[in-house]
Amino acid sequence: MVSERQAERLTIDPTAPDAELVAMAGRALREGKLVAIPTETVYGLGCNALDADAIRRVFTAKSRPLSDPLIVHVDSDEMVSTVVGEPVPGLASLLMDRFWPGPLTIVLPRGAEVPDEITGGLDTVGVRFPSHPVASAIITAAGVPIAAPSANTFSHVSPTSADHVFADLGAEVDVIVDSGRTDKGLESTVVSVDGDSVTVLRHGAVTEEELAAVIAAAGTGRLVPTGGTPANASPGHADRHYSPNAPTLAVLPGVLGSTDVAELAAAAGAGTGVEAGVLYVGYDEDEPSLPADWHFRSLGSRNDLARVGHDLYDTLRSLDGPNVRLIILELTGADGLGRAIDDRMTRAASSVVFRDRSGLLAALGNYDATADVEEV
Ligand code: TXA
Ligand code: MG
Repeated sequence: MVSERQAERLTIDPTAPDAELVAMAGRALREGKLVAIPTETVYGLGCNALDADAIRRVFTAKSRPLSDPLIVHVDSDEMVSTVVGEPVPGLASLLMDRFWPGPLTIVLPRGAEVPDEITGGLDTVGVRFPSHPVASAIITAAGVPIAAPSANTFSHVSPTSADHVFADLGAEVDVIVDSGRTDKGLESTVVSVDGDSVTVLRHGAVTEEELAAVIAAAGTGRLVPTGGTPANASPGHADRHYSPNAPTLAVLPGVLGSTDVAELAAAAGAGTGVEAGVLYVGYDEDEPSLPADWHFRSLGSRNDLARVGHDLYDTLRSLDGPNVRLIILELTGADGLGRAIDDRMTRAASSVVFRDRSGLLAALGNYDATADVEEV
């Protein structure tokens, strides 16, 4: 059933935020409304972080499980003390000094004022000070910390434009602030700080290398290496996330290069006609030879991962189409931002990653293209 209700669009120019519109958005938040706001990473679905009813509406709007805690956004170090229970540990202060305002979320002991609804029962809270001028101005105008998960339906791709938010949540929220495309395009990096250890719970717009360099320069603390998927990942970091609607799998770089076009076509043909709707998503540098009726889309240049990150979710959203029956995503295999990009693509592929040609060929042969495309 199509809902009659549509969010109000408030267009705010990030280069010169209109004070009245900012005040309006801030007031709406303080009054308990749901207001989607731009940040430098992705759009967030904001609410007053001290208002349990508003927080519950956020979970309902996103169809998000209550066990998945929300990040609280602040506009200053002072506001941190409203949210965090104990004095901020030295190592966390160091990260705040270096990376705030910016795309780093720090998990710290939770303050007494933070409702249970935010933390999913945990005794910690994730805090971040966004650098987007409209986000920080709206938080200041609201005068309260703002809880904001990414403004997408649970398990869908995070929004990097107001139109993405309208597409997912237009009927669920009160106001959507439109400040154009977001800059980073990938979510914040989530870390926990425990004693002298910093653990990356979610790779994101701040790289592990940047964190390691700051910690090393300070001569105190250590970064706990996470390898692929961190065992103690953020609770909401499920295996299937960021997913397009069509079945999606991922391959390591080089897998397609080692595979013959005829082999691919034969493997796909051995199934039930998958060759009619395969979309291969790779990079400018190495467009692979593909069977005649497969299609190629580029994520951009491997040499500009910031750009790939900026465009990734927009590209993932645009992959869905009536003729797309199967999507194959090629991972970057790179360090730095490549870790966050590969993490999201792996999740978009429900963690189905093929490391060599035989696995991919077998999967194509087994794939049933006549099955209904899954709707999320
Ligand atoms: O860039 C971002 O972080 C965006 C923008 C809007 O700020 N927000 C965002 O929120 O991505 P969300 O809710 O989609 O993802 C937050 C992640 C989840 O994986 C959640 O489990 C984790 O942070 N998280 C939040 N609080 C936590 C805590 N206390 N301990 C561990 N993980 C936590
Ligand atoms: Mg999210």
